[in-house]
Amino acid sequence: MSAALIIAVDGPAASGKGTIAARLAAEYGLPFLDTGLLYRAVGVGVLDAGGSLDDEAAAEAVARALDASHLSDTERLTSREAGEAASRVAGYTGVRAALLQFQKAFALQPGGAVLDGRDIGTVIAPEAQAKLFVTATPEVRATRRWRQLTGRGEVIAYEDMLADIVRRDERDAGRGAAPMIQAEDAVLLDTTDMDIEAAFDAARRIVEAARVRHGL
Ligand code: C5P
Repeated sequence: MSAALIIAVDGPAASGKGTIAARLAAEYGLPFLDTGLLYRAVGVGVLDAGGSLDDEAAAEAVARALDASHLSDTERLTSREAGEAASRVAGYTGVRAALLQFQKAFALQPGGAVLDGRDIGTVIAPEAQAKLFVTATPEVRATRRWRQLTGRGEVIAYEDMLADIVRRDERDAGRGAAPMIQAEDAVLLDTTDMDIEAAFDAARRIVEAARVRHGL
């Protein structure tokens, strides 16, 4: 690849954006950062220290001290509890500020990168050449996440999963500092009626079109 290609993949919880982003990274041989893991690690860090998720200063301190060793327990970080904690601490301006530079530096590394999250195309890497906003109906997203979590032994009712997703959407969308909105130059990819193969195929076509547009 001649010049750096930055791919920003945003969207709500369980839209398929994580899987799509990871596969795009493999396809183009680019480093990949799941930025949700950073917020999840902060939430889990606060809980593990016996702190409260209402304590903004505590969450900011955890965010400032975050390093790679906090990101290794993916089973714990991808739990329902961690997702809930993440969306609480992600509302704190200090937490977002503490995580900003690391994410920006990751996006701007030589050769390019793929990042997935909520604010990649708008805040972290507005210069990204390829921007996708991946979505699906709340019901389909709840079903996917329910299958994923129950498949590995978490006990949760589908109705509770759907309530989680709807609450998380409201929290993420209403965020003053970094609302989850589609960047103006992002392409919307609705995966409601797609399996992962079809979704990845559509995502790849979007990236290919962006590469042609930018001469990459
Ligand atoms: O994507 P994931 O479900 O792992 O994200 C967990 C939570 O972290 C989200 O609900 C959101 O509140 C927060 N988040 C964020 N900005 C990002 C990534 C995640 O606010 N770039």
